[in-house]
Amino acid sequence: MEKLTVLPYTPQLEALFTIIRNKDTKRNEFLFYSERIIRLLIEEALNHLPTQEKIITTPTGTKFTGSEFVGKLCAVPIVRAGESMEKAVREVCRAIRIGKILIQRDEETAQPKLIYHKLPQDISKRHVLLLDPMLATGGSVCKAIEVLKHNGVPEEKIIFINLISAPEGITTFQNYAPGVKIITGFIDPKLNEKAYIIPGLGDFGDLYFGT
Ligand code: PRP
Ligand code: URA
Repeated sequence: MEKLTVLPYTPQLEALFTIIRNKDTKRNEFLFYSERIIRLLIEEALNHLPTQEKIITTPTGTKFTGSEFVGKLCAVPIVRAGESMEKAVREVCRAIRIGKILIQRDEETAQPKLIYHKLPQDISKRHVLLLDPMLATGGSVCKAIEVLKHNGVPEEKIIFINLISAPEGITTFQNYAPGVKIITGFIDPKLNEKAYIIPGLGDFGDLYFGT
């Protein structure tokens, strides 16, 4: 499978992105529609987890050859904005383990700073869904990958899920962690001089949390 997956730009997805990118969208609408896109992303990410064959019997008494997921999972939001993606993960993976990595980008220099992390003890044995809605320069997510690798998680067991990516961030990320899969909703054309994604949607964390 390819390392980079972009959600198919269906009429539905286009309409959802149009709402969340609109500067006139009210906060409750932003929450509702961004969470719909996040749900699509999480569902797509699950397609990239390993499965094995499973044969069951249907109520008609007939055998059916299907599949089941194998292995253990963990979700790790990059706090703060990544926490917006936690709800959708919990809805599809009940009782999933959740780690946290708190990274903040300096508003002037756009350099990421690692402030805190707490991960399940056995994280090295789990597949990790790394969550952050925005991939701009790629600095924050690379720092998060560094933390995961330091805790024994191989690149091949990490899936990074985000809503909007900038090409610069994708290149930086793929050079830094070529074994990690990326699932993104859309690739925007560029960054501006303040390292914001253009056209983007502004500061996702501020919009989502209302700060
Ligand atoms: C945002 C976003 C990413 C990061 C992306 O977080 O959620 O973590 O910026 O930028 P980068 O690719 O250039 O590193 P921010 O640090 O603004 O904090 P927030 O989660 O509190 O909004
Ligand atoms: N973080 C955001 O929330 N938006 C951007 O455009 C870049 C970083």
